[in-house]
Amino acid sequence: MTDSTPLESLEPLVSLCKRRGYIFQSSEIYGGLNGFWDYGPLGVELRRRIFDSWWSMMVSQREDVVGMDASIISHPRVWEASGHVSSFYDMMVDCRECNRRFRLDHMIQAALDNGTLDEIFPGRDNSVPPGEGEAPTRCPACGGELTEPREFGLMFETRVGAAADSKSVAYLRPETAQAIFVNFKNVQMSARQKLPFGIAQVGKAFRNEVTPRNFTFRSREFEQMEMEFFVHPDEERQWFDYWLDARHAWYASLGINPERLRRREHAGDELAHYASYTTDVEYKFPFGWAELEGVANRGNFDLTQHGEHSGKDQAYFDPARNEKYVPSVIETSAGLDRTLLTVLADAYDVDEVGGDERTVLRLAPHLAPTQVAVFPLSKKLAEPARKLTDDLRGQFHAVYDDSGSIGKRYRREDEVGTPFCVTFDFESLDDNAVTVRDRDTTEQERIGLDQLAEYLGGRIGR
Ligand code: GAP
Repeated sequence: MTDSTPLESLEPLVSLCKRRGYIFQSSEIYGGLNGFWDYGPLGVELRRRIFDSWWSMMVSQREDVVGMDASIISHPRVWEASGHVSSFYDMMVDCRECNRRFRLDHMIQAALDNGTLDEIFPGRDNSVPPGEGEAPTRCPACGGELTEPREFGLMFETRVGAAADSKSVAYLRPETAQAIFVNFKNVQMSARQKLPFGIAQVGKAFRNEVTPRNFTFRSREFEQMEMEFFVHPDEERQWFDYWLDARHAWYASLGINPERLRRREHAGDELAHYASYTTDVEYKFPFGWAELEGVANRGNFDLTQHGEHSGKDQAYFDPARNEKYVPSVIETSAGLDRTLLTVLADAYDVDEVGGDERTVLRLAPHLAPTQVAVFPLSKKLAEPARKLTDDLRGQFHAVYDDSGSIGKRYRREDEVGTPFCVTFDFESLDDNAVTVRDRDTTEQERIGLDQLAEYLGGRIGR
């Protein structure tokens, strides 16, 4: 478990991510594109490890969940049937003076949290919270006049084919889930699955968010890790509870401090149009508690909609019950980018070593992009140290570094979260042993070369 001091702001993490090659702003040399991010060499490694951990828990280790990978663009009628064309929008307001744009619900929530309702609702009795349909009139940033709230469609539109008429309009998917629903029968029959069973998918989703913010937390392009679990309607609650426990536990298995994780049940007025109940797993970010994942009971909403809109019956014949029914669905919907941000934010720490301040990422060793760094004490030892790095590479993500003092090399590796540094010194030539230094405690141990891989394997784990 991470034992770091909680971050007060994301700023130092954003700067570390750029400096060390975790995450860059997209198209930075052209001034950047708001809501889009690029992952650098360390970022892609961490992404891959989080993906692997999710896939292993949700698919590889289970008999009752199978995977799929659908196209990003699907028939536009999918999004009519799912309700996204009619319901997937946010209400927004613009300031007529400073031209800032706000999501209405976020603006009101922030004013409620900060006790500043009088600023955006001047002249109103603000001892009672605003009701549905009440719109603020003044900008929280400059006090200027606000426009009336307007709907802001969240789906990115594109065109398919050469014609530029309304029939060619298609959408970049705003969630990966719908492709699972429209393939329910294909997968169930081809994989010969019996209920209860699930279909999992990891892939890009796109939302034209009104106000992308908090680094990668709310982006316009992001990756989802979703699983739809198909069950008999009588078994909704038991599977919902099961998956909520399992998903909450997964975040702790990534080394995230459990005290910074909690569950929050959605109130009736915040439920998505398809859900009868939803509970989020949340993390305590520097900007407050925020959603990492939603576990939702979607009932039979999606399969029924697709059955009606396509004319293809989505009912399932259950041989064990001798009953035909449209299955209910328990959904677990996580964000890969959000999980990665959480892992980094939770791991970021500043402490003191030998009287000097050091920045350290206390990543769980099995997630760290670099697991072992090998240093020759002197460049004269480059050859055996390089050979050792190559040997370790078969089992671990190992790097070789011979530039700067050993202290400087330790600091570089601490900052990117490398859990173990191995120093090959002159004595190593005689005693066939190396010094292994632990990132978190900075303690050093002498380990025989013939024991090293086993030792590191045991410490790094999964
Ligand atoms: N299929 C259900 C669904 O899409 P959601 O709560 O809208 O539900 C699920 O999204 C997860 O996807 C969120 O918990 C979050 O981790 C991730 N996500 C959603 N919007 C995001 C955004 N704009 N940027 C980054 N991640 C996002």
